Amino acid sequence: MNLHQVPTLDNRTTAARTPTAGAGHERAAWSALWRTAAARYRRSGRFAYHFARGKLRHDPVFQALLARGDIAPNARVLDIGCGQGLLASLLAAGEALAARGSWPARWPPAPTGTHYRGIELMARDVARADTALHGLPRSPRVQRGDMRTTPFDACDVVVILDVLHYVDIREQDDVLARVHAALAPGGRLLLRVGDAGARWRHALTRWVDRAVTLVRGHAAPPVADRTLAQWTAALQHLGFTVQVRPMYQGTPFANMLLVCVKAPAGPA
Ligand SMILES: C[S@@+](CC[C@H](N)C(=O)[O-])C[C@H]1O[C@@H](n2cnc3c(N)ncnc32)[C@H](O)[C@@H]1O
Repeated sequence: MNLHQVPTLDNRTTAARTPTAGAGHERAAWSALWRTAAARYRRSGRFAYHFARGKLRHDPVFQALLARGDIAPNARVLDIGCGQGLLASLLAAGEALAARGSWPARWPPAPTGTHYRGIELMARDVARADTALHGLPRSPRVQRGDMRTTPFDACDVVVILDVLHYVDIREQDDVLARVHAALAPGGRLLLRVGDAGARWRHALTRWVDRAVTLVRGHAAPPVADRTLAQWTAALQHLGFTVQVRPMYQGTPFANMLLVCVKAPAGPA
């Protein structure tokens, strides 16, 4: 296969041959999903492609978001600090898998029909995303911008994975308040943070973060972290209900996914 060819789920055989129920099928489906999502990044260059493969395959958060139904069909998704927009490619791969009737039966409904918008500080990542995501249904878009100043559109799901620690606590609180305001009633924020209370795991998380930041050619050093209790208190103060899920399985890190739900609209 040449570097610019993008295999699609239509020319994969794994998902087509397997039934849609059972752990075996879920493994095969996930394998088809991350491979398909990563393959789009061949067009964005070798680094983007190999980074996408490694990240989608080994970071447990991506499979969890799909397999746990955190992103509902037709949701308006805002991905803040989205890097090269991996989630948009994964959502498109999920939609294609569902269209083939191969979405795992035990997973909640596939996140079909989503409208994706990303915000990313680094021009290089925006360019990689633009190239990779071009031509996908409903034109997922990554905008270059700083989350501290870029307006947030009204949305149903906000995703912030490993981003907030790059700004100071006051700025984090301001971003979170604006996220709460942008979310529809009942909407959810999927926020992954490092738990500063997790000692060596947290130290290792931040050390690797600095290394990856440098390798990606970025200058922004990690700035501010909080303990899990501090994160939860700040989010509850804004009016979110918060569920904490460890999200570092298979890695030595201290990453936690905070699933934060905004209160539904009250009676009129
Ligand atoms: C560790 S990466 C995570 C990327 C992506 N969320 C993921 O999980 O694949 C953090 C990203 O946040 C971006 N970022 C840092 N500060 C930002 C800011 N102030 N506004 C927007 N993006 C920012 C970085 O450029 C980087 O792409």
